[in-house]
Amino acid sequence: MLLKLKMDYKQMTGQDYKAGCPPSVNDAAPNNGPAADGAGEDDTVDPWTVSTTNATGVDYDKLIVRFGSSKIDQELVDRIEKVCGQKPHRFLRRGIFFSHRDMHQVLDAYEKHQSFYLYTGRGPSSEAMHVGHLIPFIFTKWLQDVFDIPLVIQLTDDEKYLWKDLTVEECHGFAIENTKDIIACGFDINKTFIFSDLDYMGSSPEFYRNVVKIQKHVTFNQVKGIFGFTDSDCIGKISFPAIQAAPSFSNSFPHIFGSRQDIQCLIPCAIDQDPYFRMTRDVAPRIGYPKPALLHSTFFPALQGAQTKMSASDANSSIFLTDTPKQIKNKVNKHAFSGGKDTVEEHRKYGGNADVDVCFMYLTFFLEDDEQLEKIRQDYTSGALLTGELKKILIETLQPMIAQHQERRKQVTDELVKQFMTPRPLNFNL
Ligand code: TRP
Repeated sequence: MLLKLKMDYKQMTGQDYKAGCPPSVNDAAPNNGPAADGAGEDDTVDPWTVSTTNATGVDYDKLIVRFGSSKIDQELVDRIEKVCGQKPHRFLRRGIFFSHRDMHQVLDAYEKHQSFYLYTGRGPSSEAMHVGHLIPFIFTKWLQDVFDIPLVIQLTDDEKYLWKDLTVEECHGFAIENTKDIIACGFDINKTFIFSDLDYMGSSPEFYRNVVKIQKHVTFNQVKGIFGFTDSDCIGKISFPAIQAAPSFSNSFPHIFGSRQDIQCLIPCAIDQDPYFRMTRDVAPRIGYPKPALLHSTFFPALQGAQTKMSASDANSSIFLTDTPKQIKNKVNKHAFSGGKDTVEEHRKYGGNADVDVCFMYLTFFLEDDEQLEKIRQDYTSGALLTGELKKILIETLQPMIAQHQERRKQVTDELVKQFMTPRPLNFNL
């Protein structure tokens, strides 16, 4: 029997209370408590807790039903390809971005030359970012390039201050440090605005006006239901969801969109952030704004397996962006959970299980070549490819990728950070 293990995917908290599963706002399915559908019982997914007992990870199809979102099916992937005129990103081809809200509507409008903008974010809880943190950013960069649209990135240093035992200065400092890693993903300075809440909230009347409008239209009862807040949570936490919601509305950024409040927003994020945006979509029409559309990703597994805890305080639970080639090699060799058999003889005879093998999972995230990936899967499953050989392929995929990231990060000067974080017009034709 598998132990029930808690995975603090975002390393957000390490806190002990478990927020309840979100109940229905307009978007959600009527029954979305844990196991409301009678299966995938032990999967818990909310902004603070991701847990499952299943070795292959969370049951994402059941999550779609529970959250009331839509599956990114082949038809949608084909349509994205047709509209943007580019081969779909491997995250789309492989179901890593697997769920959406209103993506067809975004594409309908785009085809009629009505543009949209992207919004994503990160909670800066430490300086240490690992490869999993890059997933939404890698994908968002691709979207920015293929659709040629502006992007806003929110760093919720306020959120981290409220939830963790950190000072305001520490959180703000992490926001700046994380911004360097984000810039190193290759975002276009002419199309990207990155902001710290602690800075931008205090300098933008338009942003704060939207925060207040959202606050007026959500009751304590509603956020209790959505986020599991209790009477003993500080009021900062209770009002924070309004701050994560505000960037979904274009007039929060007058330097980019002027007074336009009707520009559609598309939010790529990990599925655990969906509760914030269910709330946002519920509020939007009541304050006269379009609902943001969403693209949801699966979770990036810890080295120890798809159901174990990935933690910033455990250096061995993931590959960090600061790891040396040697550290990468050692971590993969020593800590990556294997779906292989115990002995070479058994492995040759029975083959390995790619579905629970973390090296194979990581390759689905990072190896670009579909044919090569499929060949690896077949060879591993048949036993032709040994665990050590699979690990070597992953090591040789990660080492140059991380080295290149470090090289690009080195080029990011304080001046460049400042430019990205300065409110200014972006390339965008109204
Ligand atoms: N709360 C998110 C986190 O802790 C950060 C965030 C803010 C975010 N706005 C977002 C993530 C929009 C995705 C999309 O990581």
